[in-house]
Amino acid sequence: MATTVITNISSLVTNDLSLGEGPLGTVQDAAVVIDGDRVVWVGTSSKAPATDNRVDAEGRAGLPGFVDSHSHLVFAGDRTAEFNARMSGRSYSAGGIRTTVAATRAATDEALDANVRRYVREALRQGTTVLETKSGYGLTVEDEARALRIAAAHTDEVTYLGAHIVSPDYADDPAAYVDLVTGPMLDACAPHARWVDVFCEQGAFDGDQARTILKAGAARGLTPRVHANQLSYGPGVQLAVELGAASADHCTHLTDADVDALASGTTVATLLPGAEFSTRAQWPDARRLLDAGVTVALSTDCNPGSSFTSSMPFCIALAVRDMGMTPDEAVRSATAGGAAALRRTDVGRIAPGARADLTLLDAPSHVHLAYRPGVPLVSAVWRAGVREA
Ligand code: NIG
Ligand code: FE
Repeated sequence: MATTVITNISSLVTNDLSLGEGPLGTVQDAAVVIDGDRVVWVGTSSKAPATDNRVDAEGRAGLPGFVDSHSHLVFAGDRTAEFNARMSGRSYSAGGIRTTVAATRAATDEALDANVRRYVREALRQGTTVLETKSGYGLTVEDEARALRIAAAHTDEVTYLGAHIVSPDYADDPAAYVDLVTGPMLDACAPHARWVDVFCEQGAFDGDQARTILKAGAARGLTPRVHANQLSYGPGVQLAVELGAASADHCTHLTDADVDALASGTTVATLLPGAEFSTRAQWPDARRLLDAGVTVALSTDCNPGSSFTSSMPFCIALAVRDMGMTPDEAVRSATAGGAAALRRTDVGRIAPGARADLTLLDAPSHVHLAYRPGVPLVSAVWRAGVREA
């Protein structure tokens, strides 16, 4: 397999403190050698070994590919009208999910697959090299299993979210829907997924229902992650910690006890500022979580209802401007933080042995991701050693 050296990287975030300086293990005037799908060498350009191919980064900054650990890409349809209504003062509710469920059920496999492909590509062009995605807009045995099969063609990080809302077909009997989600639907979905998720929220599933669903998923080998404390205070975060979930996602409304639970457990807090932006809701307090010692991830939550962005740079800029994060913290959360939320050690860092996922920016450092919001700075992306953009 051919080796490639990328030289003249003005400043390279490695997220490996043994390789570089400062909180992100930054190497100045760096070079990276890629062999196949792996990084095999990181150091200063002047010491880089000779290889088959040489790419001159011409002073661009480098960082690990973004790890977007939370998205909902298997959907059809559009909710422009709902967004317009919100921007005229209407508030967000989980009920809008029903609009996408109807459109998704009516779509062909080909249309859904093309949609996922389009948004994975869109994210890749913005530097995202690992992307988790969920079912949750089917809510029948067949439609949920179909969503997961389609998702699995595009990513290894697939999440079963049959418990997004109670299916409209079971509006009068939510307990029967929980039985379906933990029974025949789980049977059909477990083979296609790595994770199980529940939207634990008023209007979706309460703490007891969520516990039942997550435990049933865990018994089938799926690791829990939870949509927790997005729209209101509630039991989601503490349930996530209690069950050893990989991540509690949203974390917008947190009590001190919620923060303490996250700080004492292994569950990552995944913050999704695109959702607060697009629903005009209060921002999650990243500063409070970081100061308490919680591991924080930043992700897009890309979905047609509450957060229709695939852009990790946009989320970084929001987190720095409005959630109390420094640029270093936001970039770490969007790379190493996402990797932690997916329990991955092969991505989110640039070091010998890691997967060769690397993004170059038309900028002298990663700080420009927040300093130059809205500017398309991503100029090259390698995923598993392959130049993709
Ligand atoms: O993460 N919170 C629940 N699910 C999505 C919203 C889905 C939708 O509105 O379609 C979220 O924000
Ligand atoms: Fe979500």
